[in-house]
Amino acid sequence: MGRLIIPRDEEIKLNPSRYILSTTDLKGNIIDVNDYFVEICKYSRDELIGSPHNIIRHPHMPKAVFYLMWKYIKSGKNITAVVKNLAKDGRYYWVITDFEIRKDIEGNINRYMAFRQAAPRKIIDTIEPLYRKLVQIEKKQGMQASLEYLSDFLEKNKIPDYNSYIKKLEKRSALTTFLMNRVKQLFG
Ligand SMILES: Cc1cc2nc3c(=O)[nH]c(=O)nc-3n(C[C@H](O)[C@H](O)[C@H](O)COP(=O)(O)O)c2cc1C
Repeated sequence: MGRLIIPRDEEIKLNPSRYILSTTDLKGNIIDVNDYFVEICKYSRDELIGSPHNIIRHPHMPKAVFYLMWKYIKSGKNITAVVKNLAKDGRYYWVITDFEIRKDIEGNINRYMAFRQAAPRKIIDTIEPLYRKLVQIEKKQGMQASLEYLSDFLEKNKIPDYNSYIKKLEKRSALTTFLMNRVKQLFG
C-alpha cells in the first residue's frame, strides 16, 4: 500500500538494550506492539493496531528478504533477518529481527511475532551494499532475479541460506541469547 512518508537520510538512534516487539495475525496485520515499538516508529498504538506490518516498510528493503521471511514462517520455521524500517517522520532504523511462529493449544500456527534489537554497525555495513544491489536488480529484472543473485552470493560464500548468513554475521553472545529468550517468554 502506498503511503505518503518521504524517507530521509537520517537514522534513529536505538537503545541497544531495548527490544522492539510486535505480534501479527497470519496475514501480517499488527495485533500487538510494545511501548518501545511505538516510541521508535512514531505512529500511535491506535494507528498501528490493525494495520498491515508494511506500514513501516522502507523502500531500501529488498522484496526478496520479505519473500524468504514469509516462506519460512508460513512453513512453520523461525528466521532471523536484518531489516531497515521507516518511521512515520521519514527517518530509519536498522534492526536485527527474530521472526517467530506461535501456535494455539491444538498446535496450529495462529500468530507471528517479531523480536527486534538494534543491528550492530558492522552488520549494517555488511548488509547495506547487498540490499542495495538486490533492490537495484528488483527494479530492473524483478524479484526472481534478486533471489537468484542472493543464492549465488550465498553459494559463493559457502553459506547454505539467508538465515544462516545472518546468524553467522551476528554471532550472538550467550548473554544476549539468554536475555532475548527471557523477552520471548515474557512477551510471547
Ligand atoms: C511478525 C511480523 C513482523 C514484521 N515486521 C516487519 C517490519 O518490522 N518491517 C517491515 O518492513 N515488514 C515487516 N513485516 C513484513 C510485512 O508484513 C511485509 O511483508 C513487508 O513489509 C513487505 O511489504 P510489501 O509486501 O507490501 O512490500 C513483518 C511481518 C510479520 C509477520
